[in-house]
Amino acid sequence: MTQYTTNVVETYEELSDLAADMVQTVVSHHPRGAITVPTGQTPVGMYAELVRRVRAGAIDMSHTQIFCLDDYLGKSRDDAASLTRWLWDEFLEPAGIPGSNVHMIPATAVDPAVAAVRYETEIAQAGGLDLAVVGLGPNGHVAFNEPGSAPDSRTRVVDLTEESMEQSADYWEGDELIPSQAITMGLGTILEARKIVLIVSGASKADIVRRSLNDEPSLDVPGSWLRNAGNRLHVILDRDAAAALETRGS
Ligand code: PGA
Repeated sequence: MTQYTTNVVETYEELSDLAADMVQTVVSHHPRGAITVPTGQTPVGMYAELVRRVRAGAIDMSHTQIFCLDDYLGKSRDDAASLTRWLWDEFLEPAGIPGSNVHMIPATAVDPAVAAVRYETEIAQAGGLDLAVVGLGPNGHVAFNEPGSAPDSRTRVVDLTEESMEQSADYWEGDELIPSQAITMGLGTILEARKIVLIVSGASKADIVRRSLNDEPSLDVPGSWLRNAGNRLHVILDRDAAAALETRGS
């Protein structure tokens, strides 16, 4: 299989700039294209940079179709502890992406299984994903594809691991109850994107980066399946996240 590309940069700022470059390239080639982007700490710098570029007139995202990657089951955009809400405030609104171009993952559907199938159809009707930017959880999850997720999994309801719930609790201060279930795009859905950018930062992720990129792909490490995308995968790591890799990309 064709090898993916890895960029190891010195700092989080460089990682954020490079990730923003990749989004900008796709958006400028496909102004009406469909992309999915992650929540969490890692993409914060990328979003700040993209918003800066939008405000400077360097990039126009007003026609981009955004598909949300995941959210807690039962949480709507109006909930303070909703990933969609977070993305809206942090990125979509400041980047000038109109609500009509945002496809929210159906976290509050009466029948989430049926709605998940419909979400997949929506992605297909948009022409498929031109770009999927994803992060890597401490347990190797990609979106909320937790360990055990199959590489051909589709959008679906999942049970969250204790580890992911603890990670979530760190994001949402106060007494917000972290749901034990989520709805997530599947690994198979993400793997069909025409370009996949994995961004990982910090020493705490060094071991899971190594397991994702150096070990045999396995159900224990969802991130390891991203390599199935071959040359459609672009990995951006800062030096700390890359510290345990056996071979480093250029
Ligand atoms: P983080 O989360 O960016 O907050 O580390 C990554 C993830 O869980 O996908």
